[in-house]
Amino acid sequence: MSIRVAATLGLVELAGSAGATAEQLAAATGTAPSALRRLLEHLVAIGVFDRDAGSGTYRPTELGAQMAEDAPEGIKPLLDINAAGGRAELGFVELLETITTGTSGYVRRYGREFWADLDASPELRRSFDAQMNWRFQVQAAQIAERFDWGRFSELVDVGGGDGMVLAAILQAHPGLHGRVLDLPPTAAAAADRFAAAGLDGRAGAVPGSFFDPLPAGADAYLLSDILHDWDDEHARKILTGCRSAAAPDGTVVVIESAGAAGTAMDLFMLMCFGGRERTVDELAALAAECGLVLRGSGPVADGRTVLEFSPDLGPSMR
Ligand SMILES: C[S@@+](CC[C@H](N)C(=O)[O-])C[C@H]1O[C@@H](n2cnc3c(N)ncnc32)[C@H](O)[C@@H]1O
Repeated sequence: MSIRVAATLGLVELAGSAGATAEQLAAATGTAPSALRRLLEHLVAIGVFDRDAGSGTYRPTELGAQMAEDAPEGIKPLLDINAAGGRAELGFVELLETITTGTSGYVRRYGREFWADLDASPELRRSFDAQMNWRFQVQAAQIAERFDWGRFSELVDVGGGDGMVLAAILQAHPGLHGRVLDLPPTAAAAADRFAAAGLDGRAGAVPGSFFDPLPAGADAYLLSDILHDWDDEHARKILTGCRSAAAPDGTVVVIESAGAAGTAMDLFMLMCFGGRERTVDELAALAAECGLVLRGSGPVADGRTVLEFSPDLGPSMR
């Protein structure tokens, strides 16, 4: 919690490489000077800050500098308890309840689901979208290049966030048109991104829920890191929605960690969303229950697998 509070207060950025006294940092953060000094002393004890004995200033160590806003490690949003990621991680204090009941610790702690919480706070929503983009800064281009999107004419990126992945795909495949469907504020951010990238002639953003009927008739529907946010019942609804909307010879493309994310991420998905990480076999079995047949799967980006499904047209039409 000391590290999380330091990240939330921005102590690393405020102290900078020049360092600052406890009083200066307290004034800058609106905190109690004597309490902040004790926090800083603990951060020194655990190697996050150094204290200069002469001037009494505190300066981040190499380790502490990793929690700066612009540090390449990108961990600040997971520590800052006012950002979506850091706020969500605090739901782990409810892990016993989650394990006992199988239900979301996030809902127990904050009184509503993660997505409803983001809807109520534009700042949280923006921090989540930024976190999603940070995690895919390398992968978006890999996804665009390592899968044959060029054979499609229209792609709907279902829950496509603020459009980073779709923009990368469209930039790599000039013949393709696409739309992002996401919750309204994020869809609006996607529209802004497409306009700024000069893609608005080929890319659109549809505000809405993937639990309602999806834009119909496209030849490909993408679900990137969507299914792991949901339990089987909701994941089946999303897959069935894609199956129903897709053209008869359409394709549903699922991109997930498929086992690579590890057990900590699986527990996070359970605690935060009641969701789960699934293997390729588990995803294929879930999709089969929704009338989708697995046509192939393979690595598509660092830590991500692509699975390609087509509607099961029944024995007479196969
Ligand atoms: C884990 S993020 C993945 C974003 C993007 N597909 C990517 O891979 O970067 C999940 C996305 O689902 C969206 N989402 C959550 N509930 C939704 C709903 N009911 N309808 C549409 N989008 C939803 C969120 O806003 C978020 O953008």
